[in-house]
Amino acid sequence: MSTLIANIGELVTWDAEQPIARDQAMVVDDGHVAWIGSAAAAPAADQRIDAGGASVIPGFVDSHTHLVFAGDRSAEFEARMAGQPYAAGGIRSTVDATLAASEAELDAGVAHRVAELWAQGTTTVEIKSGYGLTTSSEERLLRVASRYTSETTYLGAHVVPDGWDADEYVRRVTGSMLDACAPYARWIDVFCEQGAFDADQARTVLAAGHARGLFPRVHANQLGPGPGVQVACEVGAAAADHCTYLSDDDVTALASSGVVAGLLPGVEFSTKHPYPDARRLLDAGVTVALATDCNPGTSYTSSMPFVIALAVRECGMTPTEALRAATEGGAKSLTREDVGHLRVGARADLVILDAPSHTYLAYRPGVPLARTVLRAGVVAG
Ligand code: NIG
Ligand code: FE
Repeated sequence: MSTLIANIGELVTWDAEQPIARDQAMVVDDGHVAWIGSAAAAPAADQRIDAGGASVIPGFVDSHTHLVFAGDRSAEFEARMAGQPYAAGGIRSTVDATLAASEAELDAGVAHRVAELWAQGTTTVEIKSGYGLTTSSEERLLRVASRYTSETTYLGAHVVPDGWDADEYVRRVTGSMLDACAPYARWIDVFCEQGAFDADQARTVLAAGHARGLFPRVHANQLGPGPGVQVACEVGAAAADHCTYLSDDDVTALASSGVVAGLLPGVEFSTKHPYPDARRLLDAGVTVALATDCNPGTSYTSSMPFVIALAVRECGMTPTEALRAATEGGAKSLTREDVGHLRVGARADLVILDAPSHTYLAYRPGVPLARTVLRAGVVAG
């Protein structure tokens, strides 16, 4: 079954020669982009969607979320807005609520949040564990996550549980917990930060995961300066996410290693930390991804358009740079070549916007602009 998307006012493909083109048409066949050309030259197809002169963009690739959890931390948010600082220890309250929830309840929560994401134009999502912190609970979170995406990440090393010695817990994370979780995970992650895991512990966690076929990514430099980015670059991680507090050496290491810097400005919105400086990273030649970090503690948004608006307003990105980071950047963060762009051959993951150009994503913040979303060529709904 082929589909012609006719009358595209602005088409964002990220093609090397013409990344954004006007007055285009596209044919989708067998879930992939089969043909792109001028609107006037559009061929016939089995069915036709009229874009009505709107902008068509690649579906968003949200490369960092913590969607599997239970409980409510809105009181913590309220307290922060009244001046309380964020503390990583808040993670433990979600761990307690998650432990008390049934698998069916956790699954229903993820289904709800994933539906939110899809409706707002996200077509690929990464989901982490990390609110379990016991072998059976981390395994359960990844089992649930793996029902919704192939981009699953084992984050047993999220925080040291109460009553544990950190090194003893790292032995658990790299031992029986890894054994139980590895079958459900593609990635391994560690929160390398003061109050969580130090550089040596992070190296140990990532190396153990890598030896089991899991690819490394790191929560780095979120709450203050620290070794996370350097560890990510040293081990050849796919991504160092957060990157809020960076030294010049960190920026240089990211640029020369090719590690993707994942910026999550929903976190700074919700914690009142300073926003990460995307301009500095882009000017140094670093590949930048934007993601929601959707989680109940630091960033309870599922909206990539909101993140794009923040990145444009607060992180020094142009609307085009922000869209690229939210699509192609996310795909690079997940080492995916089939998504994040709309060149011929790409998976037909796309959004027909209720807007004439992608600039509207930042220009009209908070407005639902994803009019029609196609995932692998099928209208999602
Ligand atoms: O990415 N940094 C660590 N983990 C989450 C926060 C988790 C929480 O506070 O529940 C994050 O911001
Ligand atoms: Fe996170």
